[in-house]
Amino acid sequence: MSVSADIESRIDILELASRYVTLKKTGANYKWLSPFKQEKTPSFVVSPAKNIAYCFATHRGGGPIKFLMEVENLEYREALEILAKEAGVELKTGYRERERDAGGDIYDLHKAAKDYYCRTLRKPEHADKLAYLLDRGLSMETIDRFELGFADGGKPHWTDLQSRGFGEKMLLESGIFSAPWRDKFTGRITFPLCNFTGHPVGFTGRIIGSGEPKYLNSPASQIFDKSSILYGLHLAKSEITKADKVVIVEGQMDTVALHQAGYRYAVGISGSALTRDQIRLLRRLTKNLYLCLDTDRAGVMATFASIENMINEDVNLSVIRVEGAKDPDEFLKAGGDFESLVRSAPSHIAFFIRHAGERHNIESITGKKAVVDELLPMLKRLQSPIELDLYVREICRELDLGSESVYEALGRYRIKPTAVVEPENENRAFGLTECLIGYLAEYGYFHLFWENFAYTVADLPESETTILLRRLLDAGDSYTQREDLDLDRIKSLALAIQEENADSNTETTETRFLSLVRSLNKSIFERERSRLIATMRDASNADPTSTMQAYESLLKKGKKLGFL
Ligand code: CTP
Ligand code: MN
Repeated sequence: MSVSADIESRIDILELASRYVTLKKTGANYKWLSPFKQEKTPSFVVSPAKNIAYCFATHRGGGPIKFLMEVENLEYREALEILAKEAGVELKTGYRERERDAGGDIYDLHKAAKDYYCRTLRKPEHADKLAYLLDRGLSMETIDRFELGFADGGKPHWTDLQSRGFGEKMLLESGIFSAPWRDKFTGRITFPLCNFTGHPVGFTGRIIGSGEPKYLNSPASQIFDKSSILYGLHLAKSEITKADKVVIVEGQMDTVALHQAGYRYAVGISGSALTRDQIRLLRRLTKNLYLCLDTDRAGVMATFASIENMINEDVNLSVIRVEGAKDPDEFLKAGGDFESLVRSAPSHIAFFIRHAGERHNIESITGKKAVVDELLPMLKRLQSPIELDLYVREICRELDLGSESVYEALGRYRIKPTAVVEPENENRAFGLTECLIGYLAEYGYFHLFWENFAYTVADLPESETTILLRRLLDAGDSYTQREDLDLDRIKSLALAIQEENADSNTETTETRFLSLVRSLNKSIFERERSRLIATMRDASNADPTSTMQAYESLLKKGKKLGFL
């Protein structure tokens, strides 16, 4: 068991949560008004059995550590220390002892590895690796500041660390080595990934030149969680407070390039979207977030996903698009004026509208109406009337509309599940995938799922939640032992489903689950169908016959599943 799991198992979530709210028993769980927002109907639920406390209105909370972090606005380590004391786990000694058994301190180990990589890169025999970075336009000062290094193979590195007293068990557990003497990053440029305080907690390794995979990352560990780390934050934080803004880019090279060009308030995310945890980390420094992701489709998708995550987080998000370049690195190299992009960056609402403008004619009434309709789900989620007012005003400015018409549309609008097609999904607070995760975790309906799911996991759409679903399906009943799963999130979803089914019998619960699986089948079916229809309409389609055949067999499948 990890130290954090050990501490959490000794904390009574009910007692912890009742320091902030009065709780009332309802069935297996306890309920009350949320400590995270002003509300009239309770949406805060505590489950002693699951040891979690979660607010369904704001989606905050989780296990004891997560709950305390959110309710007190603490960092992970701070919450851990407070609870360790309460649990009677002397963190320092307990933690250190455990580490001594495993052979050293995990933070010290990462620091020693970083130092080793740095020394190696600067050796004359590796001048060609350094030249690669210099050729890419990095200065020696930048390379030093970001402590870039080179992994020259496992044996000397392993030996170096062992000579510093780190044990074999610790070396293997760190994720830096895949086996004794086998450095995971061999032959790559290393970028240390540091936490808020500047301690290296993991690495990213970039291949030199071209090749796959381009980047390799440290696996998740008790000190490294990719989704809550921001690359370069320890170097950027004072500049972020000074400038009262932060630019968020995709990846290491872009962060480094911006810093070198003088934009020292830039930080990087690794792939996917800006997460809520990252937003909350940044919010302590500034409320002005500028998202500048790659201009490709994936970057735009990630921008929308990030916008989703910032709703109700009390930050201002603007979107920078480096037109004509792939990413900020390329933009700067081409001599682009980044400063003026920052100054003129549209708010996320304006960005959203301009993007929708590519699909609708926003000069026309129907076009405006269509764009407003697309914005309604977001508006409906806003909790603060002041914020809603600001959003509506901005929409009216962008679309040249009167605010009454937007409010009127909002009044008529009923929340529909937003995912592709979810007609039978009853739980409004969550998407289809999230509900499925909840049922699988709460009732272990893995067999039911596989019996009724008409596709394969490869057919699931790509999103943060479907990745979680895939991993959960992959793990099956033993999911609680998996390290790469966000257990807090899964348990919260399980709790939501348990609450929803509090008064149902097994049959009803199973029926509900099956209707979700059916919705999932249907959404994949519909996606495939629209894809094929688009291909059939596409005049440049090289092989219309096989498209027709594919469409026919799709229809057959649809009939079999009862969708047609
Ligand atoms: N990434 C990753 N694994 C990959 C590819 C990318 O983890 N196989 C992450 C890395 O953090 C990377 C970021 O996604 O920095 C952005 O990827 P990409 O745009 O492909 O790389 P660049 O930042 O443009 O890096 P470079 O200029 O070195 O090609
Ligand atoms: Mn690049």
